[in-house]
Amino acid sequence: MADANPVKSMDSIMSLCKRRGFIYQASEIYGGINGFWDYGPLGAQLKKNLREAWWQDMIMNPCWGRKGPNGERVRCVPVETRIIQHPKVWEASGHVGGFNDPMVDCKACKARFRADHMWVAGFADLGKAEGVNERFPEFPLALYEEAKASGNPAKIMEAVKEMRTVHRLDAMLKEDFQKPRFFKTAVGGSLNEAAEQLNLSKREAKAFITPVVAWAGSLADFRSIVGEGAPCPNCGEANSLTEPRQFNLMFKTIVGALGTEDDKAYLRPETAQGIFVQFKNVVDTTRVKVPFGIGNTGTSFRNEVTPRNFTFRSREFDQAELEFFCHPSESQEWYKFWRDFRMEWWQSIGLKSENLILREHAKDELSHYSVGTSDVEYRFPFTAPGYGELEGIAHRGDYDLKQHQEHSRQKLEYFDTTRGEILPNGGKKGEKYLPHCIEPAAGLDRGVLALLCEAYTRDESRPSPEFLKLHPRIAPVKAAVFPLVDKDGMPEVAEKLYDELAAKYGKVGFIETDAKQSIGKRYARMDEAGCPFCFTVDGQTLTDQTVTVRDRDAGGQERIGIANVSAYLAEKLGV
Ligand code: GAP
Repeated sequence: MADANPVKSMDSIMSLCKRRGFIYQASEIYGGINGFWDYGPLGAQLKKNLREAWWQDMIMNPCWGRKGPNGERVRCVPVETRIIQHPKVWEASGHVGGFNDPMVDCKACKARFRADHMWVAGFADLGKAEGVNERFPEFPLALYEEAKASGNPAKIMEAVKEMRTVHRLDAMLKEDFQKPRFFKTAVGGSLNEAAEQLNLSKREAKAFITPVVAWAGSLADFRSIVGEGAPCPNCGEANSLTEPRQFNLMFKTIVGALGTEDDKAYLRPETAQGIFVQFKNVVDTTRVKVPFGIGNTGTSFRNEVTPRNFTFRSREFDQAELEFFCHPSESQEWYKFWRDFRMEWWQSIGLKSENLILREHAKDELSHYSVGTSDVEYRFPFTAPGYGELEGIAHRGDYDLKQHQEHSRQKLEYFDTTRGEILPNGGKKGEKYLPHCIEPAAGLDRGVLALLCEAYTRDESRPSPEFLKLHPRIAPVKAAVFPLVDKDGMPEVAEKLYDELAAKYGKVGFIETDAKQSIGKRYARMDEAGCPFCFTVDGQTLTDQTVTVRDRDAGGQERIGIANVSAYLAEKLGV
């Protein structure tokens, strides 16, 4: 039986993205720049639609008007804060001191890797074992020796596979052979990714692959392991890897013309801090009352050691973050509320529930600021059967406001007039506190990538075997208007309808029109762009004022009055 949820080909998705103008490599004509991606016409509109959906459902009409755990409507306001902030913001937030990744360099080819993403495949050195064949006569030691002499990792692996089939190699390795021998290093965020690169089955991966840092127990032990000969994953040179060094992920820049170290500033690594530093201004200048949220969207920068998996880990990316401030006693309830809503939201714009999980972080995984964090994770083709983070929902406690209060020496406490003991006049005495904060932090580029991966569909029976099942709310092309043929008065009718729809719906996406090529080819082109509705003016239109509407996913058609097209589209797009 066919797999109902097959893993899609990332190469095909990337090639469609390029071919149809969704995503291009940044500076492509100069050979590209690692970790940076540009959006083409369709991608730019798709990403805008995603941001708008977030803005609408998180800020303008939060949670679709749903009531929060306090029994009242959820209230949120936006801010737009700058990429460059006072450098002390990043000292207070902990990013200057603690926003590091361990990095390993190859001394031979100068390639750089994340130490916590390096996996070494190896096994005990059978060559050192004595009397193997006496005790295990059928053991194919010669095969192994031959493979080892060839120095070819693929051959060694073949020999190991052969040995595994005739013997319980795991047990033998434990009993008879002590010294590990490493023959291949892979770089992958997960064991599965590493296994894929090494061409190993899951079972083999478990037996032969070890994460370099975790296995070493500490970074200090790293050398004793790589010293045994783990080769560089890029050039294959043994003994060429340096010990891991901590590497700060923030990009530095200089503000002003003098260019001294005193003029140093950072490009923000998250949009969240802009919210915390403006918290007091928002409270003082608007009528917001705790509990309430402040949303911020925009570009963040992280000098990722190993950008990878298309746009998934980029060095420049956009975030959409909400900081929801509440009384400490209500924070757990709000944490659960936001966690659940965010899962539901991603499904509402087209991600299938079977491809999403909500994963609660283990205690030792939590960021320095977090009391609790859950990730919404998506089953990307490059993480499948595992999942990759799409959004983090963190309970940050009062960490950030407290840090900024200390570093700026400004009082950031909130005076809550709805709390405190009841006074003789019946009013409340009030309570001063630092609100706790729940933070749903989404990545817009990862969101676009997840939506494209989900939408990508292959169906060999269609004129275009590849098409995008994008949700109408998110699709960059909302509708197309076609004359069936480029004559007989049809183009004029189509153009009039096109003008009407473009004027009304151009603000939410493209309305396309095209009279060239066969109608099948024009439909196929729209399918690839993810356009949900095609309206076609044909001979019948001229007599009864109806057009056909073609449903992208089912491929079926119905007829509706040309006068009803706009209302039909409004309903389908939810605008
Ligand atoms: N303020 C909290 C914060 O920034 P995060 O988990 O580091 O939390 C939030 O980032 C989201 O930003 C992630 O879930 C992811 O979607 C996106 N993101 C983080 N680093 C990224 C990168 N290098 N490339 C693309 N998106 C990234």
